[in-house]
Amino acid sequence: MTAITHEEFWTEFRGIKEELKKYAHDKAYKFWTREDLTQHEVFTAIEQRVWLEIAYVFFLGKQINDYWKEFERSTVTALCKHMWEEAHHYEIICRVLEKHGYTAPTEPPKEHLGWENLHWEALGKDRACAVAVWNCSETSTTTTHDIVIENCKRIGLPDLARCYETIKKDEEFHARLGEMIVERYVVTDQQRDNAIWGARRLREEMMHYYDTIYPVPNETA
Ligand SMILES: [Fe+2]
Ligand SMILES: [Fe+2]
Repeated sequence: MTAITHEEFWTEFRGIKEELKKYAHDKAYKFWTREDLTQHEVFTAIEQRVWLEIAYVFFLGKQINDYWKEFERSTVTALCKHMWEEAHHYEIICRVLEKHGYTAPTEPPKEHLGWENLHWEALGKDRACAVAVWNCSETSTTTTHDIVIENCKRIGLPDLARCYETIKKDEEFHARLGEMIVERYVVTDQQRDNAIWGARRLREEMMHYYDTIYPVPNETA
């Protein structure tokens, strides 16, 4: 099998991100705009979604520990900022969960072990494979933030809306940082093969993820 070219890689990688952005938007829109959406349904989704924040702290810690010498120093510093922001997202969302009588998750939700394990597998491959994976994951969420913020306010959860206003701003930086790292550090045939392997796998995991956290009652029956 011949290796994927630079051009083929970018066409497919950007295509996966665009497809996931649309998928995420449509799933989020159907879930969040339902007239009879309850706060309990929202917190059930948020308990699962918030795991991703703390999971990225662990992935980024592993990424920095294993590969920091292969990156420019300014990139390592940016990855540390990314890691801190994910810890902050976990903290502010968990405070809201607890305030409303819910519990902060300390284990990956069993429905999302595929998503979780893919990141660990990618982290073992090379310096940028996991970044390619999480860049697709994080970029897909960017089309959901305004829907989440607006509808949290609509159903009387302004505290949660404020959290997602912070998250929205930070996620723009994370999505740009991830794309920059893939551009600069995915250069060999092997690295491109690894990165596109990760992006293709992530595409499947992410669709399952949105199907699970944003169920539409009469579609899942
Ligand atoms: Fe986050
Ligand atoms: Fe992020």
